[in-house]
Amino acid sequence: MKRFAILTSGGDAPGMNAAIRACVRTGIYRGAEVIGVQHGYDGLQGAEFQTMCSQDVGAIIARGGTILRSARSKSFREPEGRKKAYEAMSSQGIEALIAIGGDGTFAGAAVLYEEFGIPVIGIPGSIDNDIPMTDYSIGFHTAVDTALGAIDKVRDTAYSHERVFVVEVMGRSCGFIAVEAGLAGGAEAILIPEIPFDLESVCDKLDEGRKKGKKSSIVVVAEGATKATDVCDFIASRTGYEARYLVLGHMQRGGSPSAFDRVLATRMGSAATNMLLDGAEEGYVCLRGSEVVLQSYRDGLSATRPVDPERLRLAEVMSL
Ligand code: F6P
Repeated sequence: MKRFAILTSGGDAPGMNAAIRACVRTGIYRGAEVIGVQHGYDGLQGAEFQTMCSQDVGAIIARGGTILRSARSKSFREPEGRKKAYEAMSSQGIEALIAIGGDGTFAGAAVLYEEFGIPVIGIPGSIDNDIPMTDYSIGFHTAVDTALGAIDKVRDTAYSHERVFVVEVMGRSCGFIAVEAGLAGGAEAILIPEIPFDLESVCDKLDEGRKKGKKSSIVVVAEGATKATDVCDFIASRTGYEARYLVLGHMQRGGSPSAFDRVLATRMGSAATNMLLDGAEEGYVCLRGSEVVLQSYRDGLSATRPVDPERLRLAEVMSL
């Protein structure tokens, strides 16, 4: 293996740059040539390639976003798009690929490998933390800290004005950010897409809290569960309490990565590169306990990743 490419695809996540840096520097250390691809799978089809040297990734470990840019490619979902990508890689002598992203990125990586036999190793980068078989994906820890910072600030003003605040965090089909930030922020209720909820019961709980002297409350909502504005309106009309809402949105995807995400990204980037250069052909790296291991796409992507019900139960007990 002499020449391999790296790209970032799907929603960006803090720590993707640290992973790029680790791939580039490990690749160069091992004597390989590393090609950066701009704009994810779109750039792979359009041959947006550039050789990367060690200095190209200098000082990016602390930067959020991705220096390679990212995209959610529609054309790569079609066989013609993937053929174009394969031809662009072959014409430049690129023998393998590292793809940093979420489950959509890995689905594309798996098909590229199956159709053309080109080795593709994935690195999990997604604030949602919804990638099966890995304890953490890059960016989750930082996004939770961002959401928590907002919840803590909102709690101050909620206390002063004796209000209910509904905070909406990201998570289109999963509640990992909501559960983690809600538990850490002492939320009175956490609503996630995976578990059915009842807004009447949420209001009952807020009523019980008021009876015990609790004058302000925080409700954390994952975007895939419901809209913060609807929850806010429901609570205000059902209880008569003053309620406000805050939608955090894309600010959760940005910012300087936490130490945890930098170290995770560095370990995963380096492990993925070593695995590729040692002959691994398909699969994505996962953190399991303290180890970074390789997981095949087929078994990994067909697995589920449930939220930890114990954390939700704990949040419930803590907010009595
Ligand atoms: O997959 C990460 C994520 O941030 C989700 O939590 C969110 O629903 C989605 O991406 C937003 O995507 P986009 O940036 O394309 O609007």
